[in-house]
Amino acid sequence: MTQSPDDMANDVLDHLTRAVLVTDAQCRVQWLNSAAQTLLQISSRQAVGESLMHLFPGFAVLDEAIGQALDQGASYTEREIRVMLAAERTVTLDCAITPMSSSSLLLEFEQLDRHLRISRENQLIAQSHAIRELTRGLAHEIKNPLGGLRGAAQLLESDLKDAEQHEYTRIIISEADRLRALVDGLLGPASRFEKKPTNLHEVIERVRYLAMAESPEGITIERDYDPSLPLLPAVEDQLIQALLNVVRNALQALGDRGTIHLQTRSQRRFTIGEKQHRLVARIDITDDGPGIPPALYDQIFYPMVTGRAEGSGIGLPMAQTLVNQHGGLIECSSEPGCTVFTVWLPLEDCDE
Ligand SMILES: Nc1ncnc2c1ncn2[C@@H]1O[C@H](COP(=O)(O)OP(=O)(O)OP(=O)(O)O)[C@@H](O)[C@H]1O
Ligand SMILES: [Mg+2]
Repeated sequence: MTQSPDDMANDVLDHLTRAVLVTDAQCRVQWLNSAAQTLLQISSRQAVGESLMHLFPGFAVLDEAIGQALDQGASYTEREIRVMLAAERTVTLDCAITPMSSSSLLLEFEQLDRHLRISRENQLIAQSHAIRELTRGLAHEIKNPLGGLRGAAQLLESDLKDAEQHEYTRIIISEADRLRALVDGLLGPASRFEKKPTNLHEVIERVRYLAMAESPEGITIERDYDPSLPLLPAVEDQLIQALLNVVRNALQALGDRGTIHLQTRSQRRFTIGEKQHRLVARIDITDDGPGIPPALYDQIFYPMVTGRAEGSGIGLPMAQTLVNQHGGLIECSSEPGCTVFTVWLPLEDCDE
């Protein structure tokens, strides 16, 4: 059946990646497309009839531009405006305001962070791939001689008459074991495990429970879950490990006091790397600690990069590898008082 031009126009508007809103002269929302609902994280039902400035006070930066567009009856463009949409969510937008007939306004928003995000994201994926190849090569080179070394120390031990000298062979053996564990950690788990339909919230609750068990009293772990998230095909233990590594870092950054916030949301039509997904899960792990040291910020996903005296710098590269094995990605943004690690996971149908 062919679509009527009206249906087709609606369909086109709903598939635009640019957010489009129509408001009256008082900026009360009259209509918004899907991209606008995703950008503002609001449904059409919640938004229509409400004042845009009332819903999102951050849009007050557009007051003047809207006034000018209305006064002059001409289209007005603002570039790279920073708008705070909600606590901890600021976006950079290009905005076009066009007065329409009957004193309505057409507002179009292009989210620029998205382009910046994609170039940083491609860099992260390439980085993660290169790191994996390098560590795999190195790890194999280290593991073989290590096995020989350990075996030789054991043989030597059995020949030693003087029990006191056993101390030395023990050191060789235990250090070889420590190195082996480190190399295994760097290699990360094999991807051969079978994925099963997994409830993401059970995974996060498990992580929260483990984190609470090791937190001092002054730490609060808050949660805010989107109950509509469907099951996702995953290796549950691997996701637990990945999220736990991120949450543990937040705990370590906070020390004795602070808050960790765990949030889940779903997002429609979202690209991770090169691949467009119909639906993805977004898990934000936010802490109000001191932030990632600026000198480390670009390198934290490299192995052996650590800002802690007792850290080994494996936690984040391992978490990134595990999430990559699920088709997802971990990103972060950090400033003192607000560090957010965002884990994206594609939510393909479990029976697809
Ligand atoms: N939430 C955070 N706040 C501040 N800094 C962080 C945070 N998360 C990570 N970092 C920084 O990133 C570094 C690397 O983290 P990563 O988990 O890879 O290694 P690690 O925690 O040092 O050691 P490991 O996890 O192997 O025990 C940390 O040492 C820390 O400096
Ligand atoms: Mg860590």
